Amino acid sequence: MSDLTTPAAGESAEVDTRRVLLDATGLTKTYRVGGHKLEVLKGVDMQVREGEILAILGTSGCGKSTLLHVLGWLDSADEGRIVFDGTDRSTLGSSERAHLRNRVMGFVFQFYHLLPELTALENVLMPSMIQHGPLAWRKHKKAATQRAQALLALVGLTERSMHRPRELSGGERQRVAIARALQNQPRFLFCDEPTGNLDGATAEDVRKLLWGLNEKQGQTMVIVTHDAKLAAQAHRVVHLVDGRIESNRQLDLVEEVDL
Ligand SMILES: Nc1ncnc2c1ncn2[C@@H]1O[C@H](COP(=O)(O)OP(=O)(O)OP(=O)(O)O)[C@@H](O)[C@H]1O
Ligand SMILES: [Mg+2]
Repeated sequence: MSDLTTPAAGESAEVDTRRVLLDATGLTKTYRVGGHKLEVLKGVDMQVREGEILAILGTSGCGKSTLLHVLGWLDSADEGRIVFDGTDRSTLGSSERAHLRNRVMGFVFQFYHLLPELTALENVLMPSMIQHGPLAWRKHKKAATQRAQALLALVGLTERSMHRPRELSGGERQRVAIARALQNQPRFLFCDEPTGNLDGATAEDVRKLLWGLNEKQGQTMVIVTHDAKLAAQAHRVVHLVDGRIESNRQLDLVEEVDL
């Protein structure tokens, strides 16, 4: 397992004592299409600590989304181990796994994956509906709706809560997807290119929103990005190269970065 607390040359040897929330070792994943094998993950080791913002960089097609889906228990690795806050994924059955994932992990997908027939508000409510199930839903509906409305306000979309995804711009859809990912107050947030489809100003709004969550409530997150400005402000950056985490370096937290 790689020790991500090891500082790079020239950096201070301060030990990070925050607890490890996500611990992945030896992850491999191979796709098989039309008789061909495509080895995407070849032995990924990584740890994420509570309160950390970790950015994953890598060229298009190198396997970043695949890795994020595996880390977030949306897909399974062929080999390797993932432990979330002491719970080994492999010890859970599929429904236990889905339940835990829905409760503790939020996921912002690269292409939003909003349900087209639901309004923005209903999309944000979906993780609560899944968590409580149809029988208990009536009891929780009011509080869940208040939270969903507050999240839509947080992402600046109160006026759009009754719009369906096709009636929203790309940036608005992305913000609905972020609100949905936050609905169950996840301990861990996965974001796949959260600014990938946004213009500069909207990307900056999304960055401020995510970083604000980290500053105010210590939100832990892993962000896959091509956005150099976003990565430069992460607490730590790793690169996915040829199916492995090639490098990691500690970045100082900076308020403003000139790139
Ligand atoms: N379900 C699948 N079946 C077969 N091959 C797949 C599947 N999903 C992804 N791939 C292939 O695996 C590789 C990694 O895909 P992935 O989506 O993880 O890349 P990525 O790094 O997220 O790329 P991008 O930056 O363009 O989003 C790509 O070459 C892709 O074509
Ligand atoms: Mg991707």
